[in-house]
Amino acid sequence: MFFASDNGGAVAPEIMNAVNEANQGYASAYGADDIMARVTAKIRTQFEAPDAAVYLVPTGTAANALALATLAEPWQSIYCHKNAHIEEDECGAPEFYTGGAKLVLIDGKDAIMDPAHLQHRINNTANVGVHNVQLGPVSITSTTENGTVYSLEEIKTLTGIAKAAGQHCHLDGARFANAMVSLGCTPAEMTWKAGIDVVSFGGTKNGCMGVEAVILFDPSMAQEFELRRKRGGHLFSKHRYLSAQMDAYLTDYLWIKLAHQANDMAAYFETELSKIDETSLLHPRHANMLFASWSRGKHRALHDAGASYYFWPFDQSLIGDDSENLSARLVCNWSTTKADIDQFIASMS
Ligand SMILES: Cc1ncc(COP(=O)(O)O)c(C=O)c1O
Repeated sequence: MFFASDNGGAVAPEIMNAVNEANQGYASAYGADDIMARVTAKIRTQFEAPDAAVYLVPTGTAANALALATLAEPWQSIYCHKNAHIEEDECGAPEFYTGGAKLVLIDGKDAIMDPAHLQHRINNTANVGVHNVQLGPVSITSTTENGTVYSLEEIKTLTGIAKAAGQHCHLDGARFANAMVSLGCTPAEMTWKAGIDVVSFGGTKNGCMGVEAVILFDPSMAQEFELRRKRGGHLFSKHRYLSAQMDAYLTDYLWIKLAHQANDMAAYFETELSKIDETSLLHPRHANMLFASWSRGKHRALHDAGASYYFWPFDQSLIGDDSENLSARLVCNWSTTKADIDQFIASMS
């Protein structure tokens, strides 16, 4: 009954086997390995982007921070949702790697940026000359931090506002696959065709051991990204082990298959949870995460049965009135089974 995070899931066997297979003999270091050439080719094909520059890093934080540093000058703003991972969970890495760019926080229900508020904040940036931060890129997250997914129209509206202001757009796709499966669209439709310039394309949460790709659709940004990755300490010397993971992830669209499994389990969880009295969803479930509330008494029963998940927000407690409702985040991953969910539901009653 492990629903704390998709990071807690095991590595998919196809990925583990690929790492093992790559562990033979010698390979050129620092990304010059043959497997990386295959990764670049596969991403270019699958994203219908023959000129895209592709780089691998081991964490989502590094992907986001290095991507944003390539897009933003130190004196610029980065517009993001007020609950964005880059704002709440990266210990200031985007500010650090950009040399001090300012995150400008945008409101919006269910962690989806409100276009009117984005427009308002853009209109109010850089209107007093050198005295305030200058216009900069927009960063959106999908699957969002509330488990929702931007529709293609919503992405296009936000990128349209950014483009009209002459700015680039970044997509934090730590859960890119879960979002894309939810939309039923192609990788190109969710990215460059919708106005996204740079993507952090996640692997780790969806069955890899630790690898994310940064995809830059404008190859003129490539050299700056490469220099920032090296200078930031994120150019792996034994790079073939990153390449092997991403290569297996892309082979036969494994990434889409794994995300289907996670999303299907979350849909099943939603159905089963809705049969339990006085449970309610806090945000619509679009992909592999649910945010729901139910009584403290049931939380205590789950805790006693060994269920693992986070209160959301964290600062809630099992101590108190049993009938009071507490809210939680439940995350499914590629290896979640119906039996895990059935046991969870049974432990609530
Ligand atoms: C939306 C989002 N972006 C980025 C990350 C960062 O990933 P990492 O923990 O690998 O740095 C996470 C991880 O939880 C995330 O949820």
